Amino acid sequence: MAQQNNQGREQWASKIGFVLAAAGSAIGLGNIWRFPYKAGQYGGGAFVLAYILATFLIGIPLMIAEFSMGRSTQKSPVGALKKLRDSRFWPLVGWMGICSAFIVLSYYSVVGGWILNYIYESCFSSFQTGMAGVRFEELLARPGQQMLWHFLFMAITVFIVRGGVKSGIEKCSKILMPSLMVILFILMVNSLMSSGAGEGIRFLMKPDFSKLTRAGILEAMGHAFFSLSLGMGAMITYGSYLDKGTNISVSVLQIVALNTFYAIMAGLMVFPVVFTYNVDPGMGPGLFFVTMPEIFARMPGGQIIGFFFFVMVVFAAITSAVSLLEVVVSYFIDQLGWSREKANYLLGSVIFLAGIPSALSSNILKTVTLFGGKNIFDSLDFLASNYIMPIGGLLTAVFVGWVLTKQEKEPELKCGEGSFHFYGIWNVLIKYVVPVALVIVLLYTTGIMNF
Ligand code: PFF
Repeated sequence: MAQQNNQGREQWASKIGFVLAAAGSAIGLGNIWRFPYKAGQYGGGAFVLAYILATFLIGIPLMIAEFSMGRSTQKSPVGALKKLRDSRFWPLVGWMGICSAFIVLSYYSVVGGWILNYIYESCFSSFQTGMAGVRFEELLARPGQQMLWHFLFMAITVFIVRGGVKSGIEKCSKILMPSLMVILFILMVNSLMSSGAGEGIRFLMKPDFSKLTRAGILEAMGHAFFSLSLGMGAMITYGSYLDKGTNISVSVLQIVALNTFYAIMAGLMVFPVVFTYNVDPGMGPGLFFVTMPEIFARMPGGQIIGFFFFVMVVFAAITSAVSLLEVVVSYFIDQLGWSREKANYLLGSVIFLAGIPSALSSNILKTVTLFGGKNIFDSLDFLASNYIMPIGGLLTAVFVGWVLTKQEKEPELKCGEGSFHFYGIWNVLIKYVVPVALVIVLLYTTGIMNF
């Protein structure tokens, strides 16, 4: 029987299970796909430093705030905000979270599908030199193929969420997260033995501040945000399955450490081979889907290494997708009283359908643009990560920092095992630093402020 609180709500079975599930949400395509190419574009080590700083100043305080809201109310985002302040406005923040989880999952699953396709291809055909770009273009040009893989990725996600908190999400995180770390570690060691290792390490660790423009700093802030799954209620939802015995501050430090460690390991896996095979480290999003397969084609043993690489990435993507679906599903369970089965199958299907335009945006719907000439896929990514998530994070920080009272906040931070709590510093960060930083990010992305 699943562990439950006294209102019959399912709870995490163990602290480590909770930490792995939350780290599973954080560690995803953001770390392995975006982080290396952003670091490539904005000066390697300098970007890494800015990212770590943003993680500490914005990421940690917000994650603590989200977990506290979830745990104190034992409700998913909309219910949590309603329970804390039953006004017209604040529950809208929960709604925004659900909408952005819905949007992000719809296109995240399309990318998850591309990775499944790469796994399949690494089993049944070989990576060929000079063909990676063509192969990727071919995949993008085929709507049916993309939809099939997108369906499969969503089906796996639905299958896991159906098992619930303990037997679904926690169990899969306990299996996938350690496996992912082991695979990444082996791949990283292998990469560090290549001749470009020195240059790769230097690139990632040695800050080149001349390339870290103001835009780079803002990108690092935005990335810290996306990569820690903040601003869309995922961590409120996971916090709502938490018991009072868990020390939130300690867990957050563990989750953030795992996430940062993983991103750096991913960088240490990618850049040495990038330099060994003489490809451009700052080549943008294609670094992942084109450059890596090209490197696998040229590398001895690349076929098997490539296979494990994509398996590792899909593990990371699945545990993130699961948290996105859980945000949406938990609303229907908590607020509308639906069964998990019904909510999961129905919402999983609707999100699959909503993802179809993204899968078609590189072929049939290529000419359809939404924002600033961007196709549907890019527009949704842009809208969610540049607007909805930072706005959600800003409103969460204002709510927790300014609306909630000390009596409502302090007990959440101070309960749980161990004596390590940092209520005082956290309160200053969530009240002043996080809102100011996020307002700057938003003014910049909206173009109101120009640097
Ligand atoms: N953190 C995930 C990644 O880095 O890929 C993406 C993500 C998952 C964002 C869950 C938001 C979220 F709620």
